[in-house]
Amino acid sequence: MKYLLEINKLTVHVGHKTLLHNVSFKAAQGKITALVGASGSGKTTIANSIMRLLPTGLEINHGEMLFEHKNLLLFNKEQMRLVRGARISMIFQEPLGAFNPLMTIGQQMDEVLAVHTDKLKNERNKKILDVLAKVELLDSEHIFNRYPHQLSGGQRQRAMIAQALVADPKLIIADEPTSNLDVTLQARIMDLFRHFRKEGMTMLLISHDLGMVSHLADDVIILEKGQVIESGQVQTIMQAPKHKYTQRLMEAFA
Ligand SMILES: Nc1ncnc2c1ncn2[C@@H]1O[C@H](COP(=O)(O)OP(=O)(O)O)[C@@H](O)[C@H]1O
Ligand SMILES: [Mg+2]
Repeated sequence: MKYLLEINKLTVHVGHKTLLHNVSFKAAQGKITALVGASGSGKTTIANSIMRLLPTGLEINHGEMLFEHKNLLLFNKEQMRLVRGARISMIFQEPLGAFNPLMTIGQQMDEVLAVHTDKLKNERNKKILDVLAKVELLDSEHIFNRYPHQLSGGQRQRAMIAQALVADPKLIIADEPTSNLDVTLQARIMDLFRHFRKEGMTMLLISHDLGMVSHLADDVIILEKGQVIESGQVQTIMQAPKHKYTQRLMEAFA
């Protein structure tokens, strides 16, 4: 098994409070690895640590975050800037926050490509239209020229996924990507993720919903109060959860 991401003993503090305590896990290449825990268990803090975008006050005390075998903690600002959006990208719960309201969808996707690739303008346009079609925004030329607020909630979620995919990242971190969507839209986004996995995508899927995750992920890591309490293949954990906390997470969505 090849691992794209290996987190070793990641510990994050804010003041004297420990938010993450010796968190270790791996994300296998070409698989969907889910990070599951109740609200406040530290899921978003893990995502922000990987992106090196922690809010002020939060500090990584020790640990190692190996991405393609290189420790992201040793990267300087410029090296991290080249990683973000291009090698690792993020999908958020709230798509409006991910977009600049003053730029069209096409303009913002173009910005990502202009920064991270040496494609010419017409190649970039083609790539953007391709990726919009890939997330099933079929009238892609129309979407290209829309502003974020002109799209429906479901279209915006897809546009954000397209934006995250446009520079062909190796790893996608999706932080509660379907929490705000109705069940039908949620199912369609999950289908998209399944499709991308077939094409070789590696995803770290963050969710409080073990039920949803069990239908989609390959591996799962259960997080409680900033600590990993169990991890393994989804089927194994769903069939025989070792911890009461995991059982409770399962029952909540049974
Ligand atoms: N900027 C911050 N300052 C202080 N505590 C924070 C900050 N951000 C998050 N926390 C705390 O870190 C813990 C984990 O939060 P978070 O990673 O957002 O959890 P989750 O994403 O699993 O809901 C929570 O107890 C939260 O209160
Ligand atoms: Mg969160």
